[in-house]
Amino acid sequence: MLRKTTTALLAGLLAVGGLTACGNDSNSGGSGSGKIILGFSQIGAESGWRTANTKSIQESAAAAGIDLKFSDAQQRQENQIKALRSFITQKVDVIAFSPVVESGWDTVLKEIKDAGIPVILTDRAVDSPDKTLYKTFLGSDFIKEGTLSGEWLVKEYQGKNDPVNIVELQGTTGSAPANDRKEGFGKVIAADPKFKIIASQTGDFTRAKGKEVMDAFLKAHKDIDVLFAHNDDMGLGAIEAIEAAGLKPGVDIKIITIDAVKDGMQALADGKFNFIAECSPLLGPQLMDLVKKVHAGEAVPERVVTDETTFTQEQAKAVLPSRKY
Ligand code: AHR
Repeated sequence: MLRKTTTALLAGLLAVGGLTACGNDSNSGGSGSGKIILGFSQIGAESGWRTANTKSIQESAAAAGIDLKFSDAQQRQENQIKALRSFITQKVDVIAFSPVVESGWDTVLKEIKDAGIPVILTDRAVDSPDKTLYKTFLGSDFIKEGTLSGEWLVKEYQGKNDPVNIVELQGTTGSAPANDRKEGFGKVIAADPKFKIIASQTGDFTRAKGKEVMDAFLKAHKDIDVLFAHNDDMGLGAIEAIEAAGLKPGVDIKIITIDAVKDGMQALADGKFNFIAECSPLLGPQLMDLVKKVHAGEAVPERVVTDETTFTQEQAKAVLPSRKY
């Protein structure tokens, strides 16, 4: 009887010890709330996509009962690195972040690993060769988005032999979506020499820059057939420049973009865009699920790819009324 009671007591103590080992008290500043503390470093607020992504993360954290420490890096890597270091100091339970660019994370990721805090990459990847520096990467397949954009273009110009002059508005220099979308698109159109990228420059994923760079493209080139913009916002800025130049977006210059946020879908339904490859910002629910799992020490897949589709003008008209973001 005494042996049984002692064993039960020991088991109980071990269970409590186990919980504490992966809970707030041992690894966090000890808010005492018993909630998982998640440090999240967001890139900024450069686009409609980013705003929807931030909302999804904040709402999902609240719904999952996770204590979110949110930091906005205003598109600067040094701000993100500072935020990550401050999460170490605050002893959060889990760190998640969307890396603004792919390179330059190894040192801080090693510091986080040494502090025993699990890391989840969301939306964008890092190019660190050491995959043990993070638990998983949740986000879109950016190469596929570029490939689908290129495939639409090839189909659109099937059977025509005249040269097709393309200008490209790239996303933030050095970012995974800019690198991968360019690669995916470039590979598809390289199969036919009639497709030529006559100008390609960054618009930093913003509407203002998209307008500014498109304006410069239009001044330098009188013969633009197609614009490939790495996101809706730059495409929307470009529409303004094209209209100011007395041309019809979607007709005189065909426009392909990526994201499918509400404003982009409206432009597509209005005939000002011609095709959008979707990139979903609604990563919050899956992220919170992964946070709970890594915090509990459960195994997670090293890559979780978001489900996405593409939209033509007709499809945009059909889904626009129910588009949430
Ligand atoms: O990383 C995702 C990209 O970042 C989105 O396509 C773009 O709109 C955002 O700023």
